[in-house]
Amino acid sequence: MKIVSSPSELGATLERPISANLTGLVPTMGSLHEGHLSLIRMARSECSRVVVSVFVNPTQFSETRDLDAYPRQLERDAALATDAGADVVFAPSPEAMYPEGFATWVEPSESATGLEGQMRPGHFRGVATVCLKLFNLIAPHRAYFGWKDAQQTAIVGQMISDLNVPVTLRLGETVREPDGLALSSRNARLSADERARAKVLPEALRAGLAAHDADENAREATLDVLQGDPQLTVEYVEEMTAHHHRLLCVAVRIGTTRLIDNMTLEESA
Ligand code: PAJ
Repeated sequence: MKIVSSPSELGATLERPISANLTGLVPTMGSLHEGHLSLIRMARSECSRVVVSVFVNPTQFSETRDLDAYPRQLERDAALATDAGADVVFAPSPEAMYPEGFATWVEPSESATGLEGQMRPGHFRGVATVCLKLFNLIAPHRAYFGWKDAQQTAIVGQMISDLNVPVTLRLGETVREPDGLALSSRNARLSADERARAKVLPEALRAGLAAHDADENAREATLDVLQGDPQLTVEYVEEMTAHHHRLLCVAVRIGTTRLIDNMTLEESA
C-alpha cells in the first residue's frame, strides 16, 4: 500500500499499461466506517487494482463550520482501507485539487434541484466536480458508491452519462447499526441521547414502507413517526427514483447534526 498526496505522484504511481485489468475507485471523505469498507471490499472482489480516495472536498460544503468539524484521520483511514483491500490511498491536499485560479465546474441541473440539492445549494456542484476530477486523475473502470447517498449516485450517474465519462458505476447496499441507524461519519457527532433518538430514522422509513405496501401514503406515515419526536427537525421526506429504484428519502436534524437515510419502496421499470 502506498499513500499518495499529489496528482502528479498519483499519475506516476498508476502508470502501467491497462489491459484486461480493472481499476476500481472508491471515493470517500475519510473517517472510514463499515459502509466505506464494504464498498472497498466490493471493489477488491471485482477489480485487480483498488484506489481509495480520501479527500474532504471543501467545495461540497456550504457551511465552513461543517467543513472544519469534519473528522480527519488519514493514518487510521489508510490502515483500514488497506485491510479492506486498497492498493492505493489517494489523499490530496485542497490546494492540489483546487489550485489558485481554478475556474471550471460541473453544474448538475434538474435532478439536483430537489431534496439535498435544495437543502444544500451548491452541494452537488462540488460533488460532481470533484468526482469528475477523481475519475480523470485515476481513470477507474469502475467507481463504487453507496445507496446511502441515493441522490448523489443518481447525480453522478447522470454526469457519467451526459459527459460520456468512461466509468461504470457500482452501487453498494447501506450498512446499518444493529438498531437500524445507517452508518455515517456524522453519527460520531451525536451525543448519547441524540444517538439513542436517531434510530427513529430507520423506524420512520420502515413505517413508510409498510404504509406503501398497504396502499397508504408512505410519506405521511414516515412524517408521523418522525414528528413523534419534537426535538428532531424534519428537513424533508420525499420519494425519488434513482437507477430504476423508487426510494423513500429523509433528512433530519438532531441537535446540530444533519442525518439522511433512504429505503427502497420498489424497483421501477
Ligand atoms: P462519504 O460521505 O465519505 O461517502 C463515501 C461513500 O461511502 C459514498 O458513496 C457513500 O454513499 C458511501 N457510504 C456512506 N455511508 C454508507 C453506509 N452506511 N453504507 C454504505 N455506503 C455508505 O459521499 C461522499 O463521501 C462524498 O460526497 C464523495 C462522493 C467522496 C465526493 O466528495
